[in-house]
Amino acid sequence: MTNDLAPKTTRVSRVTLSQLMHPEHANLLGNVHGGWIMKLVDEAGALACMRHAQKKVVTVAIDSMTFRQPIRIGDLIILNAEVTYTGRTSMEAEVQVVAENPVTGERTHTNTAYLVYVALDDEGRPTNVPGLATETDEEKVRMEQAKKRQAYRTSQK
Ligand SMILES: CC(C)(COP(=O)(O)OP(=O)(O)OC[C@H]1O[C@@H](n2cnc3c(N)ncnc32)[C@H](O)[C@@H]1OP(=O)(O)O)[C@@H](O)C(=O)NCCC(=O)NCCS
Repeated sequence: MTNDLAPKTTRVSRVTLSQLMHPEHANLLGNVHGGWIMKLVDEAGALACMRHAQKKVVTVAIDSMTFRQPIRIGDLIILNAEVTYTGRTSMEAEVQVVAENPVTGERTHTNTAYLVYVALDDEGRPTNVPGLATETDEEKVRMEQAKKRQAYRTSQK
């Protein structure tokens, strides 16, 4: 299958999700449940990839996640997601998670996650995605790093 889709920049699909953390998001310690954060991370990554591919996507892989700081109930969780790699049908998204105390304005970067999605056609089969056009040297480096992560993941299948 040849890919004649025009490449797109990271900029056009970048997405930010924000959500206030309520008591229903708490774990037994009274902080935000890790599973809830993972759900939001997956949602943010999927949205960036959907915007890039302009197709529905499914999550095929999630790299290990480390939570460096607890997120408190009452914090605003901010998820910044962008596409860092594209293959034929797969895309990697990087999701940065930030917790903001809306009263003091203090922000903490709690973790960064990498997830891989596959674009699906209307019959639910993997379908080609546009390539990623890099605009800066930093984006080029990030794409090279993402390529290595994807090569490692697929070597583990
Ligand atoms: C994702 C899915 C459609 C892929 O189908 P498949 O028949 O394995 O398709 P392919 O082998 O052609 O793989 C498709 C792409 O996924 C990539 N991929 C497959 N397994 C992967 C893995 N473990 N890590 C990273 N990428 C992977 C392949 O490298 C390929 O990328 P490319 O086209 O850019 O080269 C299928 O595995 C599926 O439906 N999984 C369930 C998805 C789901 O329900 N997610 C939500 C669960 S909570």
